[in-house]
Amino acid sequence: MAVRPILLFPDPTLRRVAQAVGEFDARLRELVEDMAETMYDAPGVGLAAPQVGIEMRVAVVDVEVGTPASRLHVLVNPRILASEGRQTGEEGCLSIPGVTDSVDRPARVTVGALDAGGRPFELAAEGLLARAICHEIDHLDGILFVDRLTGLRKESMARRLRRLPYVREAGA
Ligand code: NI
Repeated sequence: MAVRPILLFPDPTLRRVAQAVGEFDARLRELVEDMAETMYDAPGVGLAAPQVGIEMRVAVVDVEVGTPASRLHVLVNPRILASEGRQTGEEGCLSIPGVTDSVDRPARVTVGALDAGGRPFELAAEGLLARAICHEIDHLDGILFVDRLTGLRKESMARRLRRLPYVREAGA
């Protein structure tokens, strides 16, 4: 297991649509283990494979990290099967450190996915877990939480992003 470097905005890999996983082999298991270690090390509540430069539809989520309820969810080829309601809450991203903002998400989702062994399962989630799952599935489609902002929040975020040291460095 190894902590992998996390790509930072505006790395173009974060903008690409990731490929569905077809082979449930040792390489995938290693990726999942490394992603979990990288997420816990950061620390964060979710991580998608494109954030470590792997354009595959894999995400890990644990919104209870550091508590007895801690549980690692491994989502391979995840799909939102149903969603309902709406929640608004503060969101951030390990690929965009230094900024957070309030993002609207479904209050409840049912996600269908495969585990690292290729076994299908469904997961019903609400609250922060639903939010994290939506955020990570967005990553697999090249979408970042800052893209979900509208109006003045979007304009303000654009200015804040330009001022981030690693964004300035990338633009130089
Ligand atoms: Ni993120």
